[in-house]
Amino acid sequence: MDLYEYQAKELFAKHGVPVFPGEVAETVEQARAAAERIGGPVVVKAQVKTGGRGKAGGVKLAQSPDEAAAAAEAILGLEIKGHRTRRVLVTAASEISEEYYVSFLVDRTNRSFLAMASAEGGVEIEQLAVERPEALAKVAVDPLAGLDRAHALEILRRGHFPDRVLDQAADVLVRLWETFVAEDASLVEVNPLVADPEDRVIALDGKVTLDANASFRQPAHAELADVAATDPLEVMAAEKDLNYVKLDGQVGIIGNGAGLVMSTLDVVAYAGERHGGVAPANFLDIGGGASADVMAAGLEVILADTDVRSVFVNVFGGITACDAVAEGIVQAFELLTARGESVDKPLVVRLDGNNATEGRRILDQAGLPGLIQVDTMDGAADKAAELAKAGV
Ligand SMILES: Nc1ncnc2c1ncn2[C@@H]1O[C@H](COP(=O)(O)OP(=O)(O)O)[C@@H](O)[C@H]1O
Ligand SMILES: [Mg+2]
Repeated sequence: MDLYEYQAKELFAKHGVPVFPGEVAETVEQARAAAERIGGPVVVKAQVKTGGRGKAGGVKLAQSPDEAAAAAEAILGLEIKGHRTRRVLVTAASEISEEYYVSFLVDRTNRSFLAMASAEGGVEIEQLAVERPEALAKVAVDPLAGLDRAHALEILRRGHFPDRVLDQAADVLVRLWETFVAEDASLVEVNPLVADPEDRVIALDGKVTLDANASFRQPAHAELADVAATDPLEVMAAEKDLNYVKLDGQVGIIGNGAGLVMSTLDVVAYAGERHGGVAPANFLDIGGGASADVMAAGLEVILADTDVRSVFVNVFGGITACDAVAEGIVQAFELLTARGESVDKPLVVRLDGNNATEGRRILDQAGLPGLIQVDTMDGAADKAAELAKAGV
């Protein structure tokens, strides 16, 4: 999960990384009031989960509360790389004498962590890495040994940080490492980390990605999720512990196993081209043990999608045999009907693999309304696309 700058800075502050105080505003008037409380010159910054806000006009200096209000007026609603700005951060403006770059990230190739540092920050780091790779230090950090002050100093020296800020910057780096470890982050990046004219070192920007696999031991992170910006169907699916991603099309997809679901998306996309351009409406992997509850939960989410015109259930029986999946589908229909959420869209089911014959027999016998069985994956995809087109 990526965090907004203001959230990243809250985590920084919690771990002693120096940041300026700031307030989040959703309206022009809130921005004006925040600037009044902070006092002096402020910077108004778009809160969107993408970089390059400065260049896109999403970061503006304001000398007075009136100017802060004008800046918020210009930035709220601004679209930056496809992200609509709904909030701004109003924060104290810093005098800047130099801009640096530091980050920690997971280095999957080397099965380790990586620290990156450069005295030439402020610019896009991808650009720096290409144009002046010698200016960007990349130093491995052993996950077991961690990062001590001596190591931090070495990283900064290799990034050509000037001597006069080394001490302070090393403190900051050690605290950033603490943030990275304690918060179970997979990325912590500060660009720019600045020195002001008195050589105070401060994090002016912050980017943090939290590792969702660690959410079981980070209960406080649940509050950082931006529910308002997430698709409501994805929120509903997450509450039901489903692996669901909303897509743009009209054919709802349920499958068991991520690989099978991915290839189902492909065959439906191909079939959709033959049927007037319909496409998959979602990715949904119900996993190995496709119980009735999980099948019902999956169907419920897909049927709640108003874009969906037909549903394709594609199951390859393995450890969970097709007869168990078929029972699951029958029970899912019963569960949904009992809840008053009848299945009112055509459902194309393809069962193959372990106990497929028995599974198909169970579905035939149940005679569920709107359910059609097709034996092959391509045939079923074609049928589902055809029905989706007819339903549009
Ligand atoms: N609080 C601040 N005070 C002064 N200048 C700032 C402040 N915050 C950002 N800036 C300036 O704006 C530039 C872009 O801001 P930043 O937060 O890095 O956004 P982005 O990386 O999305 O462009 C910074 O490099 C810095 O020069
Ligand atoms: Mg930045």
